[in-house]
Amino acid sequence: MSTESIISYKEKIDAAKLPQHIAIIMDGNGRWAEAQGKHRIFGHRNGVKAVREVAEGCAELGVKYLTLYAFSTENWNRPKQEVSALMELLFLTIGREIKTLQKNGIRLNAIGNIHTLPASNRKALQEVMEATKHNTRMTLTLALSYGSREELAEAARQLAEDYKSGKITLEEISASNISAHLYTKDMPDPELMIRTSGEHRISNFLLWQAAYTELYFTEKFWPEFNRNDLFEAIYDFQNRERRFGKTSEQIHQQTTTNY
Ligand code: IPE
Ligand code: IPE
Ligand code: MG
Repeated sequence: MSTESIISYKEKIDAAKLPQHIAIIMDGNGRWAEAQGKHRIFGHRNGVKAVREVAEGCAELGVKYLTLYAFSTENWNRPKQEVSALMELLFLTIGREIKTLQKNGIRLNAIGNIHTLPASNRKALQEVMEATKHNTRMTLTLALSYGSREELAEAARQLAEDYKSGKITLEEISASNISAHLYTKDMPDPELMIRTSGEHRISNFLLWQAAYTELYFTEKFWPEFNRNDLFEAIYDFQNRERRFGKTSEQIHQQTTTNY
């Protein structure tokens, strides 16, 4: 048994300073499985438990939006067998987790090239999104067949179309108008982005939305990530100074002065 004392981070979290939106790059399933001499899909299956942990953990704290990177546009290039196993797992999980979603008041949402998913997955997603659409405690968004560059290219196409048809002027193409044409238009930008497995990159996830997001990296593989790890990441986030281009002094003035 490990003698390591586990710090419980939940009590350390300041409920008044919660991030509204947390995004997670769930990475390391394959390496976690391979380290035990198992197939990569064993890692993906075990990753589902971590999804439940963070979804319930966020809902319990009062985080309003949780966005999980589940499958990237680039992940289609993996071996066929792994892609179909992932699609099957997604299908089974969506159906199985509806109870957890309802119990926790979670609305399911999906972003990405949803039309490229197998029809059975699209149908399952549609049904669960419909069944949970009135839940208001938290929105859980699955990024599926998601790629940020494609999302931005699509926004550019829509704006060009609006310009061509005279709906908008050239001057109306602004940062806020671009945001309004992204899949994430109805949610705030993430304040915190977590990536597991020791990799330090964004891998085409929410590039525009993460302009001022705080990044948090952990060595843990995704199937090992639990609620307390989530709370630790939030605690770490709360102890950072977000300056948005200003000086530290300006930030202190803002928080101490009542204008
Ligand atoms: C993340 O784990 C899950 C998906 C990308 C679908 P990986 O499958 O990338 O696991 P590693 O990074 O190869 O260990
Ligand atoms: C990013 O992980 C995508 C998801 C977690 C769904 P990858 O494992 O695909 O990223 P890279 O290829 O290591 O950058
Ligand atoms: Mg990976």
